[in-house]
Amino acid sequence: MLSHRQLTGAVVIATHNPGKLAEMTELLAPYGIATQSASELRLAEPEETGTTFAANARIKAMAAATATERAAFADDSGLVIETLDGEPGIHSARWAGPNKDFRGAMNRIQTLLIERGATTPEQRRAHFIAALCLAWPDGHVEEFEGRVDGHIVWPPRGEAGFGYDPLFLPDDYDRTFGEMTALEKHGLPPLGLGLSHRARAFVKLAQACLRP
Ligand code: IMP
Repeated sequence: MLSHRQLTGAVVIATHNPGKLAEMTELLAPYGIATQSASELRLAEPEETGTTFAANARIKAMAAATATERAAFADDSGLVIETLDGEPGIHSARWAGPNKDFRGAMNRIQTLLIERGATTPEQRRAHFIAALCLAWPDGHVEEFEGRVDGHIVWPPRGEAGFGYDPLFLPDDYDRTFGEMTALEKHGLPPLGLGLSHRARAFVKLAQACLRP
C-alpha cells in the first residue's frame, strides 16, 4: 500500500474566498484540524499559471506552505463542457468576470452550445472537477481529484448553491445542483451522498491523509 503523509494539528487554507474557507473548515473540523486562511495571514495570491486544475491547486498550496512554513491546503475546480472543447474549464471563475456575473457566463454557455447545434443531453455532456492539494514546506504534496458527470440544462434551474449550479444536472438525478440542498450536493457520508466533485475529492483525501 502506498503511504500517504498524514495531516495533523493545523493547516493554512490557501484561499481568499470566504465561502471556500467556511466549507473547508467545516470539512476538516471533525478530524481535529484547525484552519487559518491565507487572507488572515495576509499572504499574496499567486498567479494561477497552470494548465490543469491539479497544477493550479498545487501552485496555491505550495505558495502558502512556503510563505508560512506550515502545511497548506488548496483547491481548484471548474465546469468542463465536452462540446465546448473543455471550456470554461480552468477559466470557470474568469468567465464570470470581476463582478462574478454567473448569469452572463451561463448565457454565454447556452449561446455557444446553440451555435454548435448542441440541443440533446448527449450533445451537452459536462462534468465538474475539483483538484485538492495538501502541501508541506519541504515540498511534499498529496493530491486528489473528484469528478461528477452530467449535462447542461436550459433554462437554469434553482436558486441554491453558487456559480454554474443551476445549469448542471448530475447523471441519475432529476434536480440540478441549484435545486439541491447543501447536504444533498456536498454532504459527506453517512449524512450526505458525497455527490459533488469537491465532496468526492475530499473523501479520497480524508481516507489517505486524515485520521478521525
Ligand atoms: P476556483 O476558485 O479557481 O477553483 O474557481 C472555481 C469556479 O468554478 C467557481 O468560481 C465556479 O465558477 C465554478 N465552480 C466550481 N465548483 C462549482 C460548483 O460546485 N458549483 C458551481 N460552480 C462551480
